[in-house]
Amino acid sequence: MADLLVKLYALEPPTGSRAAMAAAGITIRPAIAPEKRAVAQWVEERFGDRWASEVEVAFAHQPVGCLVAVQDGTVLGFACHNVTAIGFFGPTGVDPDQRGKGIGEALLRETMEAMRHLGHAYAVIGGAGPVAFYEKIVGAVEIPGSTSGLYHGMIRSRTD
Ligand SMILES: CC(C)(COP(=O)(O)OP(=O)(O)OC[C@H]1O[C@@H](n2cnc3c(N)ncnc32)[C@H](O)[C@@H]1OP(=O)(O)O)[C@@H](O)C(=O)NCCC(=O)NCCS
Repeated sequence: MADLLVKLYALEPPTGSRAAMAAAGITIRPAIAPEKRAVAQWVEERFGDRWASEVEVAFAHQPVGCLVAVQDGTVLGFACHNVTAIGFFGPTGVDPDQRGKGIGEALLRETMEAMRHLGHAYAVIGGAGPVAFYEKIVGAVEIPGSTSGLYHGMIRSRTD
């Protein structure tokens, strides 16, 4: 899987997805430190050890580099930034039962907006899975020769 590049300075503010989430009663916001274990556990149960490790790192700096989608106190999805490397987006995921409702798009747009406000001009989507999703929503383009990239030779846990 290759890395993708996103021009943050060229993105519109996420007003549309923000309104759609508000209408659905879903809040997209930065997670806070007391939520660290709950969010990491949620991610581990659905997406495994590796992404849970990244979530823990997202909570280890300020501002916390993890946004969550929440409805009635229940986590529906998450997205991280500035975790595996400075300027990287990801991982991100939506609960399998909640996909197709615009939550992944809203998390992506809000996280890109957060990175732009931190002063980044570009975001790198590390080891992108659903490339078409990123192309469509934020105009991401593949970085030539980036397959495996930073993740080359990564140590994996027994359950990964
Ligand atoms: C990828 C993921 C985050 C998308 O979340 P989602 O909430 O289902 O996506 P949305 O409902 O916001 O979709 C927004 C748009 O993107 C499209 N889209 C969603 N997933 C897509 C995919 N895998 N490939 C191409 N397009 C996709 C949708 O069709 C939708 O288009 P529309 O507005 O024309 O209907 C979710 O499928 C997921 O958690 N996947 C598993 C984890 C994963 O692969 N994470 C990315 C790692 S790099």
